[in-house]
Amino acid sequence: MNAEPTPREVTVRAPAKVNLQLAVGPVHEDGYHPLATVFQAVDLYELVTARSREDGRFTVTTGSGNGIDVSGVPADDSNLAIRAARAVAEAYGLDEGADLTVVKGIPVAGGMAGGSADAAAALVACAELWETGASRQELADIAATLGSDVPFALAGHTAVGLGRGDRLSPAMTHGTFHWVFATQRLGLSTRAVYEEFDAYSANLVFPMGDPIISDFVMQALIAGDPNALGAALINDLQVPAIGLAPHLQDVIDAAVAADACGAIVSGSGPTVAALARNAQHALAIAAHLRALGVADQVITASGPAPGATVLA
Ligand code: C5P
Repeated sequence: MNAEPTPREVTVRAPAKVNLQLAVGPVHEDGYHPLATVFQAVDLYELVTARSREDGRFTVTTGSGNGIDVSGVPADDSNLAIRAARAVAEAYGLDEGADLTVVKGIPVAGGMAGGSADAAAALVACAELWETGASRQELADIAATLGSDVPFALAGHTAVGLGRGDRLSPAMTHGTFHWVFATQRLGLSTRAVYEEFDAYSANLVFPMGDPIISDFVMQALIAGDPNALGAALINDLQVPAIGLAPHLQDVIDAAVAADACGAIVSGSGPTVAALARNAQHALAIAAHLRALGVADQVITASGPAPGATVLA
């Protein structure tokens, strides 16, 4: 019997993120803004499976977990999972290819770093599939070349991010935080939100300083206190995001009316993140948002959650 060898495959899971603080400084000459951010990973996951391919080609197929609408995800070389897989092959001088399958559990183009999670998962999956022996630090260096949020999707848990958000250090936290995420089908482009931020900050009376991490956020995390964390949530991209999508204010108001500890635009939006006192309160906020019909989809999740992990 001359049976073909079964191609090897590796599946990796990577989490969504919410920014508890997103402080943005004045744009640099390279077009990027300096950030001081606090990320928390939450238990909504992308699953990426990589199968070996000897002809050096790369393909990606995207499917939906959670009822997520995947129609906006590219299947060509601009897909972040493919870019990540290629980056691993290049970094280790391999001429392998891979068939990638992505099952999305994170809203697309929502400010929750779903594409970055795909990239982080594909990095780990391909590094494992091709037995590169890559260290976590080597993968983090490749991750930073793929996008500002990719290193955090690799690391997970709760972390402070400086630079473009890619220079990470772990943050101490206590307990579990319960979140409600209200998504919108209409995506907001990250670049457009930063451009709106530039337009609005050009009119400031006082020049913007360097962004710094908020003590209030760090203390609330250590205390494991959702009321304190809710009051400390802050996002400098919220005003520009609402400028481009005014109905996001209605979502925030609805979450506050449901007694959320705090509610903010997540990252560059358009997802709104509301923090609840506990799991039951999260379900009550979610029911209120659904009843008002202010979002396309309302999902509950909790954090912190682990970073990219190989599944057995
Ligand atoms: O790094 P990423 O691909 O996620 O960024 C998308 C776009 O968002 C960039 O092309 C840039 O316009 C903007 N951006 C920025 N400053 C950052 C991160 C992103 O201006 N720190």
